[in-house]
Amino acid sequence: MDVFQAILDRQSIRKYVIKDVEPEKLEKVAQAFRMAPSAKNLQNKKLLVVKDQKTKELIRQASPSKADMLIEAPAILIAVGYDKGIMTCGHRADTIDLSIAMSFAILEAFELGLGTCWMANYKEEELKEVLDLPEDASIVAISPIGYAKEIPGKTGRKPLSEVYELRE
Ligand SMILES: Cc1cc2nc3c(=O)[nH]c(=O)nc-3n(C[C@H](O)[C@H](O)[C@H](O)COP(=O)(O)O)c2cc1C
Repeated sequence: MDVFQAILDRQSIRKYVIKDVEPEKLEKVAQAFRMAPSAKNLQNKKLLVVKDQKTKELIRQASPSKADMLIEAPAILIAVGYDKGIMTCGHRADTIDLSIAMSFAILEAFELGLGTCWMANYKEEELKEVLDLPEDASIVAISPIGYAKEIPGKTGRKPLSEVYELRE
């Protein structure tokens, strides 16, 4: 699949069928995550994939929206960072590195016919406790992953003229 086509067609999926994701597909998603660039190529990151139903329920409890997709999807992706350092630009390395890696992962998931929904609706400290992550870890994003039950209507975007400015 063309990368640009994947960018155009990907949508957030919030309803999933009861069907497991093939381990080879999860591994390919993890490869995309692994190959994403990171500041100074430090790669202080991990993609945690949770399939255990009890843990998924605990993850849902750490999410104020208590979205059903967190227990209905066969797995949840957790983007974990291990570098809270501030870069020269003033932004945290984990926030940027893990956002890029997660973006690569969800696009690859789409290529493989899988749905995802990037989620920021979780209490980081609670979730770290649920997942038994160390103090220095940060959770930058989570997403259910699985086969879509429902494809929602396409969300709109601002016109290019509003988000693109060429200065010559
Ligand atoms: C940083 C970020 C956080 C998000 N958090 C949530 C969330 O907690 N719950 C949810 O249902 N969707 C969440 N979304 C999905 C957005 O609502 C969705 O990407 C946006 O409406 C555009 O729709 P699309 O992904 O289908 O193109 C999040 C997306 C991003 C990028």
